[in-house]
Amino acid sequence: MDQTSSDVKGSASGPGGTGGARDTWGSKAGFILAAAGSAVGLGNIWGFPTVAAQNGGAAFLLVYLGCVIFIGAPVMLAELTIGRHTQRNPVGAFRALAPGRSWIAVGALGVIAGVVILSFYSVIAGWTIAYIFKTLSGAFPPGADTTAIFASVAGSPTAAITYHMIFMVITIAVVVGGVRGGIERWTKVLMPGLAVLLLLLVARAVTLSGAGAGLSFYLNPDFSQITGSVFLAAAGQAFFSLSLGMGAMITYGSYISKKDDLVSSALAVTVFDTAIAVFAGLLIFPTLFHAGMDPTASGPGMVFVVLTSLLGTIPPAPWGGTVFGSMFFVLLFIAALTSSISLLEVGTAYLVDEKKFTRKKAAWLLGVVAFVLGIPSALANGAVPWLTSLPGIGMDFLSFLFTVFGQYALVVGALFISVFTAWIWGTKAAGDEVRANDGRFPLGRTWTFLIRFVCPIAIVLILINLIQALI
Ligand code: PHE
Repeated sequence: MDQTSSDVKGSASGPGGTGGARDTWGSKAGFILAAAGSAVGLGNIWGFPTVAAQNGGAAFLLVYLGCVIFIGAPVMLAELTIGRHTQRNPVGAFRALAPGRSWIAVGALGVIAGVVILSFYSVIAGWTIAYIFKTLSGAFPPGADTTAIFASVAGSPTAAITYHMIFMVITIAVVVGGVRGGIERWTKVLMPGLAVLLLLLVARAVTLSGAGAGLSFYLNPDFSQITGSVFLAAAGQAFFSLSLGMGAMITYGSYISKKDDLVSSALAVTVFDTAIAVFAGLLIFPTLFHAGMDPTASGPGMVFVVLTSLLGTIPPAPWGGTVFGSMFFVLLFIAALTSSISLLEVGTAYLVDEKKFTRKKAAWLLGVVAFVLGIPSALANGAVPWLTSLPGIGMDFLSFLFTVFGQYALVVGALFISVFTAWIWGTKAAGDEVRANDGRFPLGRTWTFLIRFVCPIAIVLILINLIQALI
C-alpha cells in the first residue's frame, strides 16, 4: 500500500478499524464526529452571525435554511459518495471517475481554495487563542470596552501574526501526526460540550434587556429584504459551514467504511452543523441589540466584540463571565482546529497520493504557504489602513478573501460537483455506491431530483445574479 494508506491506517483506525485496502474511521460514530468536526467551526459561530447581520437577519436565516436543505444536504451526500467510491483525494477522485477529462480542475480548485481559506481561517482562530487568555485574566467585567480590547488583539501586528502562527503550527502538527484517532476522541467531548455551553449562553442572552428586538431581527423576516445577493450569501455561507464545494467531504468520505450508511451520516452532520449555527444567532443577536450596536455595520470582529460584552452579565459576579467565557473560547479553539485540519488535509492528501510527497513535507509546505498568505489578513483589522479598507472595494482584506474563496469559490465548486455526480458519473452509479452497505437508499428519488435539477439550476441562477451585479 502506498504512503497515505499506511499513514491513515496507523492513525485513523480506532479500535474498530477494518484494516481493509484503505483505512477507515474507527466506527461510524467516529466518522460522523470527524465530519462534524470539520463542519462545525468558526463558520458557525463567527461566519454565520456576521453574514446574517449583513444580510437582513431573519430573511437571511430563512433563505439559509432553504439552501441547507435543498442544496447543501444533497451535495454533502454527493461528496461523501464520490469519496467512498474512489477512496481518493479530490483530484484523484475526479481522475478515477472521468479519466483524461478536465474535471480534475475541480479537484485542483478545491486544493487551492483549501489553502486560501486556511490562510485567513488561522488568523481568526488565532484571535480565539488570544481571547482564551483575555477571558482567563478577567478582562471583561461589566462595562468593559470590548471594541478596544478587540482592537488591541487584531489591530496589533505582533499579536495578530504571532497567534496566527501558533494556530498554523498546531494545525500542521496535527495533520503531520495523522492523529485522526485524536480528532475522534476530541470531537466526542467537544461537540456536546460546545452545544451545552452555547445553550447556557443563549439562555443568558435572551433574558437580557432589549433582547426582544434582537430576536425579532433574527426570527421575524422582512420579506422585502430577500434579494439575489441574500441568496448568494446564504448559499455561500451554507457551503462554507458544511465544508462543501472544495473536496473536504470527498477526502473525509474516502475513509468511510463500505459498511456504513452514507445517507444517515450526511443528514446527521448537516443537521448538527445547522443547529449550532442557528444557536449562535440566538446568542449573538439579542446580545448585539442589548449592547445597542448596529448589525449592518458588522465586520470580522463583530462576534468577538458582541460575545465578550455578554460576559460581564453572567452570574455569579465577578467570576461567572471568566469561567463561561474562557470555556467558550477553549471550545471554539478546538472547533476551529478540527476544521482547519480538514482544510489542510485536502491539499496534503493530494500531494501525498498524487505527487508522492511524504505527509510531513506536504503538510509543512502547504501550511507555510497558508501562513504567509494569511499575513495580509492578519494585518487587515486595523494594523494596516489600506488592508483594513481595500481601495476601490471598501472591504477589509480578510473579508475579501472570505467572500471570494470562502463563499464564491465554494458555490462554483459545488455546482461542478453536483453536475459531475448527476450527469457525468451518473446518479445510477452513485446510487449503487450509496446502497453498498445494505442495499437501501432512503430518499433516493428525492436526492436524484435535487442533485440533477434543483442544485445545478439554483446555483446557476445565483451565479447569473452575481455576474449581473458585477457588470
Ligand atoms: N466548515 C468549517 C467551519 O464552519 C470551515 C471549512 C470550510 C472547513 C470548508 C473545511 C472546508 O468553520
